[in-house]
Amino acid sequence: MKSIGNLYQSGDWKGEKHVPVIHAPETVKKDNLVDVKVLVGEEIAHPNTFEHYISWIKVYFQPEGHKFPIEIGSFDFTSHGESGLFTEPNVSIRFKAEKSGTIYATSYCNIHGLWENSVELKVEE
Ligand SMILES: [Fe+2]
Repeated sequence: MKSIGNLYQSGDWKGEKHVPVIHAPETVKKDNLVDVKVLVGEEIAHPNTFEHYISWIKVYFQPEGHKFPIEIGSFDFTSHGESGLFTEPNVSIRFKAEKSGTIYATSYCNIHGLWENSVELKVEE
């Protein structure tokens, strides 16, 4: 069996326009809300045309010691030129975590496939 995990691409978002950029605090106090922004194309703009666009972004959090990531948000971008409308792949999400862990973001370009990124979040007592 082939694994789709091997099809996720990544890299330095400052040089690779497809990598989802994650803006999140490095630390947060327990029970405080965490504001996360995820976007594609911060340093180098990704095309946003009828033929070539970012279709979706998903965001996950995996608490330390937890076997699986938990999906915390899923965003579909559905206008790609209809009547001149183009949805930008740029989302905000807010969540609360009891434990430190890893924030993952994945995204999909209709031409260049699957992309991923992650950052660590430290939750302080
Ligand atoms: Fe692309």
